[in-house]
Amino acid sequence: MVRSLLLLCLGAFAPALGELRDGARPAAWSHVGSSKVLRMRGGGETTDMVIVGCGVPKRGMGWYHSTQLLDGMINNGRLSAVVEPYFLGPGKDSPPGKLFNEYVEATKAKDSSVKFFSNLKDWNPEKKNTCALIAGRTADNPRIFKELVDKGCTHIYLEKPGAPTVAELEEMMRYANEKGVKVYVGYNKNVTKYVRLALEFQNATPGASTMFVHNNAYKEEELPECFERNAEGILKNMAIHELALLVTYYNVKVDTVKEVIPDMEYSRRLTLNGPSSGKPFTDFSRVGFTVKTTEGKTVTVRADRCVRRDAARLMCPIPTSTYSTTAPRSGRRRSPAGALPAPKCSAAC
Ligand SMILES: NC(=O)c1ccc[n+]([C@@H]2O[C@H](COP(=O)([O-])OP(=O)(O)OC[C@H]3O[C@@H](n4cnc5c(N)ncnc54)[C@H](O)[C@@H]3O)[C@@H](O)[C@H]2O)c1
Repeated sequence: MVRSLLLLCLGAFAPALGELRDGARPAAWSHVGSSKVLRMRGGGETTDMVIVGCGVPKRGMGWYHSTQLLDGMINNGRLSAVVEPYFLGPGKDSPPGKLFNEYVEATKAKDSSVKFFSNLKDWNPEKKNTCALIAGRTADNPRIFKELVDKGCTHIYLEKPGAPTVAELEEMMRYANEKGVKVYVGYNKNVTKYVRLALEFQNATPGASTMFVHNNAYKEEELPECFERNAEGILKNMAIHELALLVTYYNVKVDTVKEVIPDMEYSRRLTLNGPSSGKPFTDFSRVGFTVKTTEGKTVTVRADRCVRRDAARLMCPIPTSTYSTTAPRSGRRRSPAGALPAPKCSAAC
């Protein structure tokens, strides 16, 4: 399982790294520091962006990206179209569908050039350089991806994990390479401040190892819907962010994994019936494991669907000592980047 998950991360990164080989990259992408992580940035020319799978306001990732574009947070990216198959289609009369319709009206009032489609077949790129951002359900990604490549999109930004299986990701990579399409997968935790602080602290603390804690805020009664909607499972849907951190910062690769120790006491596996299909879905409501590498690194991951806030904790050699950094709450002002805050532990760790 871990082997296939690491391939899922590595497979996703490979096209982004391939991007650095030739000179024809769009203005909208750049390195972050000296790492191999890429991020979007402004450049010389405006790039049309289409969002496929928008989702509802304040919930769908596509909606967040569309808001970033509309608010001018992505320099030189222009939201040209939104394709929303469900909330403009079968789900349009549901309460979230009505919310989506309000978003459509508000967007049109803000920028009348943005076009909306309920069917991807009706959309075609208007410019030679068009970037499509796929934020639909993971199971639909391979089909949507192929359709966008066939329509002539030159760049594709895939929400993680990109596809349900490694085999599908590999096929998507093969097809993109064949057609000369550049593909990126967004692993946003690679560039978050709380992770940077934890890594800085760990590197300055001999013998320390880090535990990455990823929390969602679902209520227990919301888990059946969560399991059904994120049917690829907690590891590929949620802990994939932490696996990407392990790949990027701990050199965790298929070949460097020495041992994976599951945390049986912490982990909880359930089978729940999905409210839409009535079918059973087996997944973890929380899962924990430690990875040891052949290079002597140890790192722990915990993911829980039913808590709040993400964190990185340092487990120092002295058992009572921990240093934690947490992800900012949404909408909360970030503190200015700079000095590392004092560790919360009193012992000298
Ligand atoms: N980068 C991150 O931090 C992050 C966070 C959350 C999700 N994601 C990824 O973003 C992508 C989209 O996730 P999301 O949480 O926005 O998904 P979502 O399920 O809320 O919405 C995605 C699409 O699913 C369709 N849909 C919604 N309800 C449906 C229903 N009842 N029946 C059929 N179709 C329905 C809609 O077309 C919608 O655009 C996924 O690939 C996910 O892994 C990334």
